[in-house]
Amino acid sequence: MPKSKNKKELLQNPKGTRDVLPFDAVVWQAVEEKAREIAEYYGFRPIRMPHIEHTELFTTSVGEATDIVEKQMYTFRTRGKDSLTLRPEGTAPIMRAYIQHGMRTWPQPVMLYYSGSFFRHERPQKGRYREFGQFGLEILGAEGAVADALIIRLFMLVFEELGFKKMMVHVNTLGDKACREDYRKDLVAHFRKKQNYLCTECRRRLKTNPLRILDCVEEKCQEIATDAPQCIEYACDACKEHFREVLEFLDKASIPYFLDHKLVRGLDYYSRTVFEIFTETAEEKKEEVPVEVSESADSESADIEGGESKEADAPPPKKEEKPAHKEEGRPLALASGGRYDSLAYDLGIQEPQSEEEEAWKGAVGGAIGLDRVVEGLLSQKGKGIKKENPKVFLIQLGPQAKQQSLLLLEQFRKNRLSVASSLSKDNIKNQLGFAAKLGVSYSIILGQKETIDNTVIVRDMETGMQEIVPQSKLLDYLKKKKKK
Ligand code: HAM
Repeated sequence: MPKSKNKKELLQNPKGTRDVLPFDAVVWQAVEEKAREIAEYYGFRPIRMPHIEHTELFTTSVGEATDIVEKQMYTFRTRGKDSLTLRPEGTAPIMRAYIQHGMRTWPQPVMLYYSGSFFRHERPQKGRYREFGQFGLEILGAEGAVADALIIRLFMLVFEELGFKKMMVHVNTLGDKACREDYRKDLVAHFRKKQNYLCTECRRRLKTNPLRILDCVEEKCQEIATDAPQCIEYACDACKEHFREVLEFLDKASIPYFLDHKLVRGLDYYSRTVFEIFTETAEEKKEEVPVEVSESADSESADIEGGESKEADAPPPKKEEKPAHKEEGRPLALASGGRYDSLAYDLGIQEPQSEEEEAWKGAVGGAIGLDRVVEGLLSQKGKGIKKENPKVFLIQLGPQAKQQSLLLLEQFRKNRLSVASSLSKDNIKNQLGFAAKLGVSYSIILGQKETIDNTVIVRDMETGMQEIVPQSKLLDYLKKKKKK
């Protein structure tokens, strides 16, 4: 038998996980509610996937040589010897569900949203946890650039309506698998010339996943990556045209974006568009870092022909403030995503054989990091989140009053009148004190006499004036007071 734990050593939550206590949970709910409201308005429908999946789903989609698969998955064997993994992300499960449930035969595109926990074994720090929340949007069966732009636009709307300021979308195109082959070769040749200067991890990446060297956090690797070939130069005409259209949509929607040639993302299933969205917080306004931006107002169309990016005719670099969270000196994205046109094939689906089947080709999506958004809001004192306090407090004195108050509360709830009450405090002074702390306008007092007479006493908390009101007229009485 293991020795019993020292009594003083109470159990804590596991490293990298968090309890979200009531005040923060309210903000959390408001963020999810805002995202859900916008998603549903635009025709997205909810989906819930399991928290565990077959490990193979992630190794074949996210990629064997990615950080997620190599180092971050919580994988375990079941008693039946199956290998299962706590979901580290939602896109592969969504595509699995889309294929498994025959959604390819539904009217296309299929537009889905989800919200929930994901799990990665990462080094915990502010904005990076081992269990974290994501709100995701996915459009399956859509090849057009408008779908890419819609995902970005909706995330921007969520942030804007939550009160975030100075949002910036980093966007890039990875081309498709064919375009990437030549790019990969030239990239490897570029880094090989300077491989002795690369960090140990990037020397390994040179063999396994050279694109990831582009977004390595090590300064030396960053320097070497500066003059590396850019993916857009290798994109075929169709991929360039797609990217141009995405940028044009962003221009039309006045969404500020930055063409980030080093943005490659850490998941292998992406093709064509990839994006990350950043913001700044009020706290960090003092420190400034220059970031090149291209804003829609400054140029009408996105000229990316012949590898010439919009950066070329962008205005001079503007000063942008640092985004909310930083990791080793770099900002952390509030949301990110991209297109994953070949994920269905990676999961074993054959390329469409007929014109009819073409309908389900193409998919794009993204996910908001809920922890980061909530932290961003809390650091600005819940900016944009307005939760109305109840205007009325119900005071109950004695067991009979407590019983009757349950019926009264139910009447209030049905009439959508928000009322606070205290179940445990019996004494009137304590309950009035509590009501005053909440800042309610009226207290309703229900004592023994009132219970027998079917009345209540209504106390105006500002003037201290009290009135006896029959319980049957109480709702009308309060409504009239509210109007006044
Ligand atoms: P991701 O970039 O790995 O993409 O995650 C999306 C967002 O989740 C990030 O931008 C970040 O805000 C948040 N996030 C990621 N890891 C953590 C963490 N350890 N702690 C806190 N927040 C985190 C995906 O997961 C893709 N499935 C997104 C997607 C959907 N692409 C297409 N559709």
